[in-house]
Amino acid sequence: MTKLLLPLHVLAAVLAVGPVTVAASMFPQALRRAHSAPDDREALAALRTLHRICRVYAGIGIAVPLFGFATAGSLDVLGNGWVITSIVLTAAAAAVLGLLILPAQDSALTTARSLGPGPAARLATLTGVFNLLWATVTVLMIVRPGSTTGA
Ligand code: HEM
Repeated sequence: MTKLLLPLHVLAAVLAVGPVTVAASMFPQALRRAHSAPDDREALAALRTLHRICRVYAGIGIAVPLFGFATAGSLDVLGNGWVITSIVLTAAAAAVLGLLILPAQDSALTTARSLGPGPAARLATLTGVFNLLWATVTVLMIVRPGSTTGA
């Protein structure tokens, strides 16, 4: 069973978290461009597309912890320290994305023409925190400190 669940878990991480990382990281720069050229319709369209990628792939990203829990269950490692730490960090990453980044992108979109560069700087910081959290989880998944079940 693990042979099916683990590839699905990793595939979901690559296909969902990858696009969110790229799109969310590009958003602040695109926001600055949309703000500095309020008549540039293309800049606003790019901003909308980036936000949509973040929103849609964040939804698909729910598959990552779902298959993660299933994999951990089938390996019987749910109580391991590295798994519990990963669950906490994944929850924190999801909260930063769902409760802070996506709503901030949403409101930046509606006010892109009128606001100053403040939201772009805050979004860049939040996206950096999100990227750091999930990158840490990926390292934990591979190194598995304290694990005695494999290499
Ligand atoms: C609720 C959160 C998560 C749980 C419970 C979880 C659980 C697991 C488990 C049990 C494994 C198998 C490890 C082994 O072979 O012994 C694994 C592997 C892996 N996970 Fe997660 N995971 C979670 C979140 C994530 C996230 C957020 C990412 C990346 C975005 C991720 C990326 C990976 C990768 C790349 C592997 C393969 C590591 C390898 O085989 O060397 N996981 N995960």
